[in-house]
Amino acid sequence: MKTQYYTATSLDGFLATEDDSLDWLFPLGNLDDSSYPEFIADVGALAMGSATYEWMMRNADQVAKETGSPWPYSQPAWVFSSRKLPAIDGADIHFANGDVRQVHREMRVAAKDKNIWIVGGGDLAGQFYDAGLLDEIIVQLGSATLGKGKPLFPRRALSPALQLVFVRQMGSGMAELRYEVYKND
Ligand SMILES: NC(=O)c1ccc[n+]([C@@H]2O[C@H](COP(=O)([O-])OP(=O)(O)OC[C@H]3O[C@@H](n4cnc5c(N)ncnc54)[C@H](OP(=O)(O)O)[C@@H]3O)[C@@H](O)[C@H]2O)c1
Repeated sequence: MKTQYYTATSLDGFLATEDDSLDWLFPLGNLDDSSYPEFIADVGALAMGSATYEWMMRNADQVAKETGSPWPYSQPAWVFSSRKLPAIDGADIHFANGDVRQVHREMRVAAKDKNIWIVGGGDLAGQFYDAGLLDEIIVQLGSATLGKGKPLFPRRALSPALQLVFVRQMGSGMAELRYEVYKND
């Protein structure tokens, strides 16, 4: 079982624009042509921050068009927020606030022998990294720059903290990079 931060990013390291738009991303590639179908098949639980969750609620129609459902995950999901957020009918969502370590324990139980997906954003993935809980970072690196926006991973992780283990070109719009997170223990 691994804890994986799997995401798309702009070439200059942003997940989304400052106002949480992902419109730059969709023309660059198709989810079905990426490693996503294989990746998600091995995911047993997932976590996201409130901005990512609110993006999904705001864009429910588009998500449904792309994936067939406004909430496309059958796995239990943990949504981090200090606020009270609305639930989504039929979705297996747990709201969480604070330390990621306790939540990670709950996610491990729920995921059984499958992987844990940290959907984003970057600081939430960083909280799992800070706690020594992140095993892999998998990025679909888009052939586009944004100049500014929501950061991919606002942490200092120096070599050998990240070990590049896989690279794949996906047409002219994307490259997939996989890093293992090196741990000292
Ligand atoms: N390119 C991609 O593939 C991709 C992937 C994922 C996300 N995204 C997009 O990137 C953007 C990410 O936004 P973001 O960087 O703001 O990150 P985010 O993680 O989605 O949301 C951050 C918010 O989550 C809450 N939060 C985080 N950690 C918490 C904790 N330990 N306890 C309680 N609450 C916590 C806080 O808000 P409150 O307490 O105020 O609720 C925080 O401001 C979104 O627009 C999303 O749609 C893109």
